[in-house]
Amino acid sequence: MFRKYKFAFVVMIVVLLLSACGGGGGAEEAAEAESCAPNCEFTDMTFCYPQLGAESDWRTANTASFKEVAGELGVRLIFSDAQQKQENQISAMRACIQQGVDVIGLPPVVEDGWEAVLQEAKDAGIPVIIVDRSVTADPSLYASHIGSDMYLEGQRAADEMNKLLPDGGKIVELSGTPGSGAAVGRADGFRANLNDNIEIIDSQTGNFTTAEGKPVMEAFLAKYEGEIDGAFIHNDNMAIGAVEAMKAAGVEPGDIKIVSVDGTRGGFQLMIDGWVQADVECNPLLGPQVYDMALALMNGETIDAEVLTDETVYYPDEAADLLPSRKY
Ligand code: AHR
Repeated sequence: MFRKYKFAFVVMIVVLLLSACGGGGGAEEAAEAESCAPNCEFTDMTFCYPQLGAESDWRTANTASFKEVAGELGVRLIFSDAQQKQENQISAMRACIQQGVDVIGLPPVVEDGWEAVLQEAKDAGIPVIIVDRSVTADPSLYASHIGSDMYLEGQRAADEMNKLLPDGGKIVELSGTPGSGAAVGRADGFRANLNDNIEIIDSQTGNFTTAEGKPVMEAFLAKYEGEIDGAFIHNDNMAIGAVEAMKAAGVEPGDIKIVSVDGTRGGFQLMIDGWVQADVECNPLLGPQVYDMALALMNGETIDAEVLTDETVYYPDEAADLLPSRKY
């Protein structure tokens, strides 16, 4: 009898010692990752991607890029969808930290409020790559930021609006998620370059979605009947919603000059149909670059603190030719 209890006691002590030494699955993986440096391969990598949501075609393409490329490279991807809620992204990050993933890629829904969880990742020795939108946290808390220059996108949009309304006019702005790096950067860049003779008479958020963009444009059309010369719309999905509202209100293509952002297939179709006069590119296909950066981090290599995507502006006269080859 005593021998049986003694055996159980010894087993318990061994289990406790193993877990104290990091014997859980996550810690084992972390130790494996450490041991593979400087020769880690993609198949050694566990990568966490707490996606912010599925609000737009851009986002769908971004998710697909991370999932497909992980499959091709043999990366173990831990993916979650935060449904546009920062608290969900933070919880997902904490779960990944617990599991001891090798690298976290964070596409932050908003800019502020990341300090605590970034510090937790840093304390756990897990590098974080900020993907797509920016954060206001101190750069010492993360390894790198890769994404579009949202301010430049706003400037480019304003340059297009200046060309479309050379004699000035009144415009509305349909902006993205409040507090997001994309909405803040685009709004600031747009105002920096907009000609003085163009007045932004109203600005409301459509949260980057078609469903929320449509009622915002309906309200603009009702409030400023016949007064609106142009619209700066922060993404193609909201432009799709806005155009639905315009059609319902009897607005004809080109009556209101629209500059949109993203360069999705939906945006290209709006250009072909005459509704959108310029579409500022924002490229979501970041998976390959981010996994390369993550592997470099695992192997102890230095990576650039900021990597900005090279982008352009698309126009209606090229839209029909380019649409078949668009990947998103
Ligand atoms: O952060 C990138 C933006 O987020 C894209 O412009 C938009 O479509 C997405 O929702």
